[in-house]
Amino acid sequence: LPLFEAMNFLNEVADRFPDAISFAAGRPWDAFFELSDVHRYIDVFRTHLTEKFGGDLARVRRELLQYGPAKGIINPLVAAHLANDENVVVDPAAIVVTVGFQEALLITLRALRRTGRDVLAAAVPAYMGMLGAARLVDMPVLPVRTDATRGIDLDDLDRVVRAARRRGRNVRAVYVVPDFGNPLGDSLDEASRHALLRLASDLDLLILEDNPYGLFDGDRGPLPTLKSLDRERRVVHLGSFAKTGIPGARVGYVVADQPTPPDGLLADQLAKIKSMVSVNTSPLAQAVIGGKLLAHGCSLRRANAQERQVYHDNLGLMEKGLAARFPDADRRGISWSRPGGGFFMVLQVPFAVDEAALWESAERYGVLWTPLAMFEPEAVPGDDRPSGRIRLSISYLTPDDGEAGLDRLASFVDDRTKG
Ligand SMILES: Cc1ncc(COP(=O)(O)O)c(C=O)c1O
Repeated sequence: LPLFEAMNFLNEVADRFPDAISFAAGRPWDAFFELSDVHRYIDVFRTHLTEKFGGDLARVRRELLQYGPAKGIINPLVAAHLANDENVVVDPAAIVVTVGFQEALLITLRALRRTGRDVLAAAVPAYMGMLGAARLVDMPVLPVRTDATRGIDLDDLDRVVRAARRRGRNVRAVYVVPDFGNPLGDSLDEASRHALLRLASDLDLLILEDNPYGLFDGDRGPLPTLKSLDRERRVVHLGSFAKTGIPGARVGYVVADQPTPPDGLLADQLAKIKSMVSVNTSPLAQAVIGGKLLAHGCSLRRANAQERQVYHDNLGLMEKGLAARFPDADRRGISWSRPGGGFFMVLQVPFAVDEAALWESAERYGVLWTPLAMFEPEAVPGDDRPSGRIRLSISYLTPDDGEAGLDRLASFVDDRTKG
């Protein structure tokens, strides 16, 4: 499968050239996570449980060390975080705590996929984890155009969905990352968020909202999540604590408050599916995240004050650094996006960027990045954009590495565009 090969290739390059500076890794910066925090957070959560259970220590022990409910044990804390940080008010019973965003998406797609006619619409280039989950449940992805500055193209979404329906396909949902998407770093502006909700309503589509980077809103500042604007229960909100909690805890969640006649909520169906995938999310992992939430008044915005600043500074370093190294960018057909937040930006260069180019960049110049083509499941029909697009990730860098990496990247681009 090309998708899995692409991921293997990226890992192989990184393993083969360990000294290369990486603008490829999308992971959060390690120094934000301390082993001692894990113990502290579990203790905070244990104290919370002890109070909640009126001092019944046997019950606390059971809650933390036994099998548990498929929906999770930190649902009220997740709901409090959503109310505090996202202005989203949901019943904890509409939340399923999952093994990361990845499982949240997998079980959601599994629930939506009923027949071989069911398909998912998604802006491409798209997050590989989404493409992989759709593949696992055998749900084809209909590619919708997207733009590095404006996000998903709503006219194209309308066209793609109507055309697919004429062909007898049942388009169940559209997947979107409204804030600082991976790989483009694109966001929807506020008017487009309202327009997307209206369009989804007209087309009777569910929206799968993936929001791992919304809190890192840098220069731009916060915009309302789709879920906070949702008046028709049309949005299934998929969350991840990988960037804002602790990635190694592998905890995420899905808010699925859609009624499923004759009774219950979509969350209940998802919990049943989850019970056959992973039984329940490790209560110990939930305790770590629950403790982190409690320790910061259930506000991840507060918990991530330093993180928000560091990623914001890294993005600024990249934008300034590129401008300094490519003063004549326009003339040379070089440009870059200014995402205003998140982990990713796009560098456009005037030559084709593929796996061979990445290998050369790693071997001869000591710098890693990701060809955007790796995120495209298939070419978008009629799309004639040049293929010289590079994803640059800013999350896993010191400022010194950022500057040195930019020097190396500039040498690579200069050598490639000479003559
Ligand atoms: C677009 C997108 N969604 C979700 C995730 C996080 O997923 P998980 O919680 O499974 O680590 C990532 C992380 O890379 C991402 O880029």
